[in-house]
Amino acid sequence: MDNENLFDSVNAVEYYVGSARQWAYYHQQALGFDLVAYSGPETGIRDRVSYLLRQGDVKLIFTSFLNYNSPIADHVRLHGDGVRDVSLSVENLGDTVEFIRKRGIARVGNTVRIKGRDGVMNTAVVSSFGDTLHTLEETADYGSDIPPNFVEVGSRAKPVGLKKIDHIVGNVEDRMMNSWVDYYVKGMGFDQLISFDDKDISTEYSALRSKVVHYGNRKIIFPINEPAIGLKKSQIQEYLDYYNSPGVQHIAIETGNIVKTVEEMKKRGVEFLPTPSVYYDTLLERVGKIDEKLEDLRRLNILVDRDDDGYLLQIFTKPVGDRPTFFYEVIQRKGATSFGKGNFRELFKSIEAEQARRGNL
Ligand code: FE2
Repeated sequence: MDNENLFDSVNAVEYYVGSARQWAYYHQQALGFDLVAYSGPETGIRDRVSYLLRQGDVKLIFTSFLNYNSPIADHVRLHGDGVRDVSLSVENLGDTVEFIRKRGIARVGNTVRIKGRDGVMNTAVVSSFGDTLHTLEETADYGSDIPPNFVEVGSRAKPVGLKKIDHIVGNVEDRMMNSWVDYYVKGMGFDQLISFDDKDISTEYSALRSKVVHYGNRKIIFPINEPAIGLKKSQIQEYLDYYNSPGVQHIAIETGNIVKTVEEMKKRGVEFLPTPSVYYDTLLERVGKIDEKLEDLRRLNILVDRDDDGYLLQIFTKPVGDRPTFFYEVIQRKGATSFGKGNFRELFKSIEAEQARRGNL
């Protein structure tokens, strides 16, 4: 069997958090997600509550525990609020599980049939870095967007224009990046995209190495970072110290109009990393002609980078929870297929300023 048509796309991202209700509220109010469905004691689930939110094609689930001895509580105590499961839609679960088992590299559990009101869903769980999972979901015989044990809520928010997940980045320990690249490439049939080395992505202090794996001509994109030695503590190491293991560092979500999206998010109180004003003094010399007004980008701190295929605009939020771990990126692609390598330097200076304020540099 070849490695084609094993995975469709990222289905949903589930977070384990201290208060699912508050995470859901923040994502509704500040990030413009609709509340779609709820699961908890009222729907027959005794030990947890989950909220399913949606904007464009982006589906997020926030789950919290109701009992002190819950494995969700253990996860939150160890990692803080963070991503537990990046679920992947699959065409044929049997074929996909067989492919992964034959390779003998990635760990995949048994196939489980979940019966719901709307049909049967076949799932199997792949373990990835740290406590992160990929639940594989085959939904051909499942006739609904609402997962089993959830009830539809249907509470509409005012969207900010977020459309789809562009990429999801993992941070792993020093010298572990290559084995996790192998895990996805040799173990799960992904391809490797491009690589940076630590000379590319470093400032005076924070250094990292990064490789990108993807599946199905970029339908699923997972960059993987590891810390590299700099003069002071790498921002990846700071993440690992607070998350207490490898985990998901950021999710980049695509918008069709980053100026409008970021303007609206800022109005609603979302905090982004600042960009030094000097960045914009020489921006057009670096990236050439762009459609957006330089003044809008400067005012909103939006970054721009160009590659052989075009350019991209991007901006990063401050950490979403209490620990300096998980954050979002908002990205608009105008042809560019890369990830903003030219901005890493600028971005890191900004991240390091924040890191220094926390006493972790
Ligand atoms: Fe990114």
